Amino acid sequence: MSDQDKGLGRMLVMEVGRVTEAAAIACAKWNGRGDVKAADGAATDAMRSELSRINIQGKVVIGEGEMDEAPMLYIGEELGTGEGPAVDIAVDPLEGTTLCAKAMPNALAVLAISERGGLLHAPDMYMDKIAVGPGLPEGVVDLDRSVKENLEAVAKGRGKPINEVTACILDRPRHAEIIQAVRDAGASVQLISDGDIAGVIWTTDPDQTNVDIYLGSGGAPEGVLAAAALRCTGGQMQGRLLPANDAERERATKMGADVNKKYTVDEMASGDVIFSATGVTDGSLLKGVHFRGDFAETETVVMRSVTGTVRRVKTTFRDIGTKLAML
Ligand code: FBP
Repeated sequence: MSDQDKGLGRMLVMEVGRVTEAAAIACAKWNGRGDVKAADGAATDAMRSELSRINIQGKVVIGEGEMDEAPMLYIGEELGTGEGPAVDIAVDPLEGTTLCAKAMPNALAVLAISERGGLLHAPDMYMDKIAVGPGLPEGVVDLDRSVKENLEAVAKGRGKPINEVTACILDRPRHAEIIQAVRDAGASVQLISDGDIAGVIWTTDPDQTNVDIYLGSGGAPEGVLAAAALRCTGGQMQGRLLPANDAERERATKMGADVNKKYTVDEMASGDVIFSATGVTDGSLLKGVHFRGDFAETETVVMRSVTGTVRRVKTTFRDIGTKLAML
């Protein structure tokens, strides 16, 4: 059996790409309309209906919430035709709901699937994250080292002075100390208002993106999705859950997660993994959805860990009115 046919099998790659395309088209209708709920709802509906057409025995492990709080794509929901491989599904139908509502860059529709048991069941809470792209020595960064030590190690690994290193960080008051520490170390900071899955993916191509390292806390589900992408591209990441109280601690433990552990990429996403993201609004990772009369154009990146293939797919949909009605 060739590598391509191992694990999930190559046919699923395009199917997974179709799912994020559908979600992106559905919510792009809401770009700039100021309605986060409607945008997220449209993406969720479309993602669920496309997932139910695929030949998988799928189970949502990262979803829109627990069964009692999310009517669709809830954790534990079974999706797919019931034929084909047994898979774990992690969804973020609209990553950057505010970005979409305000028509700001980098909103994405995101999905990852793995062989059953391959994705960390991360509860909806914060996770402390650190990530770098491929081509650096193993263990080059660590959540327990100081910001300065991590930046110096990345500068050394990339063979450049620290003042040419850039850290991407979510622009939040809780990150004030990290931001100051990066600047004090002589490196620069690229602040983002939302969307840390893209922030982590940018580290995989620092020559193009100018981002060498991702630092700071964000959603744990987004952390697992970012790890799924890094599994395919190479790169290193650590994530540690940050429960805000006893209830969150209990919830994490109930889901089988260890709140004291620094999870690596392989511990968050293992086995064969397929990751797909489609642009909703224009961004530096992907172009967003463009509607032109009865046509729509999308741009998607689909990656697979077993082969390390990264595909960029530009798709033109005709008769978009009919397609939207089907979603
Ligand atoms: P949503 O799509 O749910 O709005 O998440 C956007 C996001 O920026 C994530 O990328 C990130 O992990 C998280 O929110 C950060 O949370 P917070 O806004 O509470 O800092």
